[in-house]
Amino acid sequence: MKMDTEVLSQPTSHPAIAQRSLADRRKDFPILQSTIAGKPLVYLDNAATTQKPQSVIDAEVAFYSRSNANVHRGVHTLSQRATDDYEAARDKVRRFINAASSKEIVYVRGTTEAINLVAQSYARPLLTKDDNIIISAMEHHSNIVPWQMVCAQTGAELRVVPVNDAGEFEFDVFAKLIGPGTKLVAVTHLSNALGSISPVKRIIDLAHSHGVPVLLDGAQAVSHIEVDVAALGCDFYAFSGHKIFGPTGIGALYGKEALLEAMPPYQGGGDMIRSVTFGKTEYNDLPYKFEAGTPNIAGAIGLGAALDYVSAIGIDVIAQHEDDLLEYATGLVSKIPGLRIIGTAQQKASILSFTMEGIHPHDIGTILDHDGVAIRAGHHCAMPVMQRFGLAGTARASFAFYNTRQEVDALVASLHKVQEMFQP
Ligand code: ALA
Repeated sequence: MKMDTEVLSQPTSHPAIAQRSLADRRKDFPILQSTIAGKPLVYLDNAATTQKPQSVIDAEVAFYSRSNANVHRGVHTLSQRATDDYEAARDKVRRFINAASSKEIVYVRGTTEAINLVAQSYARPLLTKDDNIIISAMEHHSNIVPWQMVCAQTGAELRVVPVNDAGEFEFDVFAKLIGPGTKLVAVTHLSNALGSISPVKRIIDLAHSHGVPVLLDGAQAVSHIEVDVAALGCDFYAFSGHKIFGPTGIGALYGKEALLEAMPPYQGGGDMIRSVTFGKTEYNDLPYKFEAGTPNIAGAIGLGAALDYVSAIGIDVIAQHEDDLLEYATGLVSKIPGLRIIGTAQQKASILSFTMEGIHPHDIGTILDHDGVAIRAGHHCAMPVMQRFGLAGTARASFAFYNTRQEVDALVASLHKVQEMFQP
């Protein structure tokens, strides 16, 4: 496949890396050099998970090859080295999202665990049958089910802000739903199914005017939109490492220190304690109070390497390139007969969800796979928003900075083939 040789970025903190071309950056991702069914891989399933640069793979290998030991537990050199690297990675997360203190960064398995933690440790002790939690109609199941569970446990109500036909958060309805009984607002920053960007600053400002904290599900946003938790003022922010070129099984929950301090631990075990007797346990300081058991040390170090990699390019540069790809792809697929784009928000990023008349999304995905084009097909773990649009599922192409216009051309050519195959 011809490579795009355009130079994408201006120098940022690492000029040597930032000035490299897109073609060069693709070479950092071993898997992107592979073929599927004899065709060059066109990986457009980045919303499900992103591919990993060699520097992230190397960071994990280096940990297991040279530093493997448990953290916070040993006086020996390896344990100290592992602890230093693990905590250095936490500080990289802190800097990446501009949190005030690394006490506010809790390592978790991913966004799902982060949201469950907040549901059980923050919301559950507060909620009564007179209270409510507000989410939106375009949430991923991981930002629906934990709230349903805590509402079932407490008798509280789950309120849902609808989305309009373009897939945009209906702010006016939100303003009517929030009230004295609202204990938390939990919304997606960027919808994985539609690509819509929620008006998060307005949501946070209105919620705070009611004294209500806000959790943002940043699973999709974090690799496409600059996240500055201080500027946003959000109370909790959750994201997964694997959606930002890092390993699976590691993610972070940001929480304001005062909120985390007041919350009980989520799980009990080693490392989250200061002292234990059979009569009484004293919990550890933040953030360790929420990190029971041996953590994913290599994953955290890999996440740190991923954030270094992204920071060297610059999220602004990434966003500009992905916006170009999305606009280019939208223009081309719109010309395919019977194709309908689902999610046409004014504020949108990196995700192109669509249906084709009379063709099951799984058939689209399977035929594209024969051309080496990887997309996701189905409900995208967001069944309620599919129901909102009267659909069982969509086909979804999702872009990352390493994708090219040539890859969009390959997607479009394959979609034309699908359309022709199913023509009556
Ligand atoms: N949440 C992931 C997706 O959107 C798995 O595909």
